[in-house]
Amino acid sequence: MSRKPLMAANWKMYKTLGETREFFEAFLPKIKDIEDRDIVIAPPFTALALSCELVRGLDNIRIAAQNMFHEDEGAYTGEISPLMLKDIGVELVILGHSERRHIFGEGDELIGKKVQAALKHGLMPILCVGERLEEREQGLTQRVVETQLQGGLKQVSNGEVENLVIAYEPVWAIGTGKTATPELAQEVHQFIREWICKKFTSTIAENLRILYGGSVKLANVAGLMAQPDIDGALVGGASLKAGDFEKIVRIEG
Ligand code: 13P
Repeated sequence: MSRKPLMAANWKMYKTLGETREFFEAFLPKIKDIEDRDIVIAPPFTALALSCELVRGLDNIRIAAQNMFHEDEGAYTGEISPLMLKDIGVELVILGHSERRHIFGEGDELIGKKVQAALKHGLMPILCVGERLEEREQGLTQRVVETQLQGGLKQVSNGEVENLVIAYEPVWAIGTGKTATPELAQEVHQFIREWICKKFTSTIAENLRILYGGSVKLANVAGLMAQPDIDGALVGGASLKAGDFEKIVRIEG
């Protein structure tokens, strides 16, 4: 298995420019020696340009946006385009995060368009999928995840899917302190990989990185990373402090 772990920080709506600078000043010297995994930081829009500037020239860390719109430009008040992200040096974009889906009403069709636009412009999408508690309780987890994968990857070709990452984030585990057990997360990750194998090819499925997200912290990350189909983490709250996130990044699976 040759998948390089990817450890990503989703800062959500946290950190001013000053706080962003402070984080990178503390974090970058700590991770200088790390080569065996990719590190991604997703700051809020206002801190993206500064973050790109601060990591410029470093090979092991890249910057992601937390969202974007799918058009190149136009009368879309309040939105940010893939071109604007590329322009400042952003390399990845989180799409379909459960907070976008459930607080801001984003549906699979819109998310599919965003994934397509990101790929077209050479931004790597981190496509998030995950069920809500009531869906899990009703035994609908696989059906929900499958629908989200179908919608998100609707127009994606074999060549394009190689430039994409999937994150499984059960909604009931996000920000709640309730992580999925490693076994339970593994079950869904395996389902996602098998689905990708059916829709694309076995090589694509074998190479695809699938991250777990939802209350990941130092205390639980090792167990998750030890699972065969968990290739990294998308970390919210525990990524905000440089020292904490560095320790999480270093955990071996
Ligand atoms: P927490 O780690 O704060 O639960 O957030 C997870 C998440 O939503 C990452 O995208």
